[in-house]
Amino acid sequence: MKRAKTILGIESSCDETSVALLEVLKDDFKVVFHETASQIAIHERYGGVVPEVAARTHVAEIVSLLERSDVFGSTTPDAIAVTRGPGLATALRVGIEAARTLAYAWDVPIIGVNHLEGHLASVWLDEENRTKWDYPILALLVSGGHTELVVINAPGKYKVLGRTRDDAAGEAFDKTAKIMGLGYPGGPAISKRALDGDPNAFDFPRPMIHDPSFDFSFSGLKTAVRQTWEKLPDKEKKNPQMINHLAASLQAAIVESLIAKTKLAMAKIKPKAVTVVGGVSANAELRAALQHAVAEFSSSTFFLSPPMGVQTDNAAMIAAAGAWKLAAKKTDDWKKLEAKPEWDL
Ligand code: KG4
Ligand code: ZN
Repeated sequence: MKRAKTILGIESSCDETSVALLEVLKDDFKVVFHETASQIAIHERYGGVVPEVAARTHVAEIVSLLERSDVFGSTTPDAIAVTRGPGLATALRVGIEAARTLAYAWDVPIIGVNHLEGHLASVWLDEENRTKWDYPILALLVSGGHTELVVINAPGKYKVLGRTRDDAAGEAFDKTAKIMGLGYPGGPAISKRALDGDPNAFDFPRPMIHDPSFDFSFSGLKTAVRQTWEKLPDKEKKNPQMINHLAASLQAAIVESLIAKTKLAMAKIKPKAVTVVGGVSANAELRAALQHAVAEFSSSTFFLSPPMGVQTDNAAMIAAAGAWKLAAKKTDDWKKLEAKPEWDL
């Protein structure tokens, strides 16, 4: 019988330093270590991620995370998977240089992973999802920097059907939260406020909802929220219920726009399974709306959601994508591995 392989995952593309150890035996994936040092508290005071601060904080965190994973003790991994891009160049380099050094010292393969493929692979961190994984799969990939509809035909075989023409869905949450003084990141703050608000209180636009393409656009929504906010009397800007209504109406507009295009894509692709990945998929309203849309589309199409906790950036998903690439023998040369800040799927 083949022995399980241990893959070390390293993620440092934005504001989370994350290290994971994944045990892989054929299609069986088991996370045996996973820790993420979030920089949210640091970037919060700037109202967004400051690249230089992010990179310096990765440097400060990465060695202690690696130490805690015990890779310098009893478990030398069989391979190292590291995020190569897309992301902030200086932040990516911290993870990549650590991975290159370890690959050289341990003489093990290194695998440069596309962060977006990592989000897709996050679905595999749940055992039941792996049994329901049947092609073609339609993925709605929604993060702070990306909003895409992707057809998965096999690991490594992706077709981007459509993407945002301006802001990403996560950016729409982040920028409007900033306008309303709700801090960074905006998604969790807005979804919390939306729980007590009326989604019909404000009629925000659903951009491109009647457009036949699979593309999205969210910058108009941001403008609409800004204009509404600026017209509000100061007293109302401080009224918590008013903010709850704004948050609920905004969330409804984003969710509806995302679902409309995913429905269009389902009708075209006729997928066997549909999934939603990336930080914005932590949004319970979005997940529920998509689950409902999939059930309406076909009772034989699975709705797959990554396990809780791996929607936002993390190293377990990078190790999972690394396992796919290792199985396909797609490894890299540590001498040549460089960051690819603008890397598409
Ligand atoms: O995937 P991710 O962690 O980082 C990138 O690759 O960009 O996504 C971060 C994004 C942020 O824009 C954040 O506001 C959003 O995910 N997000 C949410 C929620 N939690 C995080 N958006 C909506 N609802 C949430 N609960
Ligand atoms: Zn991400």
